[in-house]
Amino acid sequence: MLKLLFIGDIVGRPGRDMVNQHLAKIRREHGIDFVIANGENAAAGAGITGTIARSLLEAGIDAVTLGDHVWDQRGWETDITQIERVCRPANLPPSNPGWDHLIIEARGFRLGLFTLLGRQFMGLKADCPFLCADRMIEQLRAKTDAIIVEIHAEATSEKQAMGWYLDGRVTAVLGTHTHVPTADARVLPKGTAFICDVGMTGPYASVLGREIEPVVGKFVDGMPRRFEVATEDVRLSGALIEIDASMARAQKIELLTVLK
Ligand SMILES: [Fe+2]
Ligand SMILES: [Fe+2]
Repeated sequence: MLKLLFIGDIVGRPGRDMVNQHLAKIRREHGIDFVIANGENAAAGAGITGTIARSLLEAGIDAVTLGDHVWDQRGWETDITQIERVCRPANLPPSNPGWDHLIIEARGFRLGLFTLLGRQFMGLKADCPFLCADRMIEQLRAKTDAIIVEIHAEATSEKQAMGWYLDGRVTAVLGTHTHVPTADARVLPKGTAFICDVGMTGPYASVLGREIEPVVGKFVDGMPRRFEVATEDVRLSGALIEIDASMARAQKIELLTVLK
């Protein structure tokens, strides 16, 4: 039995502090073998930098994934090529820099991993995530013992569709991007763990991690404002998955929430 913790979008300094303060203890207490985290909002809520990516890896994260905010920070397009355990979404144009997948290893078990961007209500242009998933699985099957897929998307329908599409072909399909944890964690009939969204790691007294007042104000009058990262009610949110190592099937998935 192997255990994987998949941490949802780390937002700004509050999210990074949560990882620094709690991850080592969570790893120990739950006997976790692999930790993957989405870092697309790690730098002040928008994108990531080389320094921040390295600090997350040093804090005990084994692999950092990204989403539609992948290119928000200047210089990251060169930094990403220097860091081995970070990958960008797989269905971006092939000319985009960075790895389109990662393989991490623990106790002799090789876990393949890639992120798919959804195409419903998303700003960044990406190739079909379903056909990309087929391609990536084909490529990773021989080199890995199990595959984890992150579906970084807005629409619950697109995420659920991906879960069913990949059921039995990968060990987990885990949703990110909406920053709101969902109550639908389950193992699908053919052994794939699924959840629509694992939630965010950051301040929950907020609108998706940002200060409430300016966001509400913008909805009310449409005037532009700066959306700073909020500070209160900070939580770490993720999914804990138990993997049957012999069959690469998920045995169990549950939402994990850690308060500050
Ligand atoms: Fe995000
Ligand atoms: Fe996102």
